[in-house]
Amino acid sequence: MGEKNKYGQYMTPNIIADFMCTLVEHDKTAVCLEPSAGKGIFLSKLEKVGFRNILGFEIDETIINPNYNIRNESFVTSNLTPIYDVIIGNPPYIRWKNLETDLKKELENSVLWKNYCNSLCDYSSIFILKSAYLLKEKGELIFITPDYWFTTTHAKNVRNYLIENGYIKEIYHFNETPIFDKVKVSFVIFKYVKDTAKNPNISVTKYLSKQKITEQDLTEIKNKTSADASFFDIPQFKKDEKWILVPNKDKSEIEKYETACNTNTFGDFCRIGNGMVSGLDKAFQIKNESLLNEKENKNSINVLKAKDLNSISFGKTTKYIFLKQETDEKNFQSEYPNFSEQLAEYKTKLKNRYSYGKDLKYWEWAFLRNFNLFKTEKERIFCPCKERITKRQRFRFSVVPPEYFPTQDVTALFKKEETKEDIRYIAALLNSKFVFKWLSNKGTRKGDIIEFSEKPISSIPYRKINFSNKKEVQLHDKIVSLVNNYSTCHEETIFQNIDECFEQLFIIK
Ligand SMILES: C[S@@+](CC[C@H](N)C(=O)[O-])C[C@H]1O[C@@H](n2cnc3c(N)ncnc32)[C@H](O)[C@@H]1O
Repeated sequence: MGEKNKYGQYMTPNIIADFMCTLVEHDKTAVCLEPSAGKGIFLSKLEKVGFRNILGFEIDETIINPNYNIRNESFVTSNLTPIYDVIIGNPPYIRWKNLETDLKKELENSVLWKNYCNSLCDYSSIFILKSAYLLKEKGELIFITPDYWFTTTHAKNVRNYLIENGYIKEIYHFNETPIFDKVKVSFVIFKYVKDTAKNPNISVTKYLSKQKITEQDLTEIKNKTSADASFFDIPQFKKDEKWILVPNKDKSEIEKYETACNTNTFGDFCRIGNGMVSGLDKAFQIKNESLLNEKENKNSINVLKAKDLNSISFGKTTKYIFLKQETDEKNFQSEYPNFSEQLAEYKTKLKNRYSYGKDLKYWEWAFLRNFNLFKTEKERIFCPCKERITKRQRFRFSVVPPEYFPTQDVTALFKKEETKEDIRYIAALLNSKFVFKWLSNKGTRKGDIIEFSEKPISSIPYRKINFSNKKEVQLHDKIVSLVNNYSTCHEETIFQNIDECFEQLFIIK
């Protein structure tokens, strides 16, 4: 493994290091530390603005810059005391499973790691923890890191350690802004102050541009004049909570929704599965339905792809070749002449499909994932398995009749046997502003893209109806009839009426 991968070497761009140095408030007599110095960019910047007492650590001797005070040893086992006024940098981010054995061993001997982390945590956790520990009272920690650890369950102890010993002062969240070459995760720059006495608000900046960031952009972010960012304050994080960057108003709405759902989630009420894989959709899409013989008609299915789905309703469906029983090539050609003629054109490509370890015939779909669920005589809900949320206010969960099948870009939900709510009620909730807000802030998200596979959908809060409460039943039935209305008239205001019904449901105790 190259040193770059072994040690998580991603060098901070000049303008980002400059920006981070402007966040230091301490005067120039500060004792400064850079725990993972790389080529020394932060040391050079600190020196340039007048700091003199600066120490760095760098494990890889091949990149150490001799012009700076950098020790060639691992920060993890370095013997240091809490005397630092400023700690700044870009710690290495490496997943536990990708860490070299020597680095793992070192972590296993670290008391901080053992007390606050586990093998789901990544390498940067120890740099965050140890740096927070090494700060003097009122010392400042300024780091750039991926944003995962703000919300993952396994980083809860790391977050708690910070909150118990100080407060977060500023956060700059870069959603899909490319900061490091070829790295596609969202980054945060945060400033933490070690001070057990204070508990002030956190100043949050969410930067939304997808363009490569410039010096001018960073100046506008600093001056809070950027048109590509939102600026707001949030109350200080509390112990055990995820660090969610939402304005107060949204946060209270999310909490109201969660409280109303009382720990019930969609996974308790629905079965959820990803769609089937043909391996080459265009080959299986039937070109001329009118030519099909009876057997061919019986061996075709209606398919919906992600692009055909809307909130509640859906657009055009496509008929696909889908043989319901096994056959051999001779029979296939004689009994399904139109299919055979259509697939002939794609034969080579079909034979080269990924076969999921089976002896895959060219007329067969590659992977019938969840077929037994899909073939049931039950209505279902389909949604795209990924959705970009910019310019959207609700998701696309469509109510779909039995015998419509999803392709792999679609996730399907089915009511469990014991679920009493109508499938239209379930779809209404999934298309509501509450689920939209909840998933935008707490869902599985990559930049602006929300993921809808089984796990993320399962964890969405679910408002179960108490069928012995008349008012709840009335609201349930009203929501169902609103969904039915929408299916016939497509009047957009119906979604507001549905949201209002949920608002009423949420306040019933
Ligand atoms: C993400 S890079 C950042 C480098 C530099 N601070 C910058 O911003 O350009 C992290 C650096 O930490 C170094 N590193 C990895 N493990 C380390 C350890 N245990 N102690 C000190 N440095 C380490 C890597 O070699 C790499 O140079």
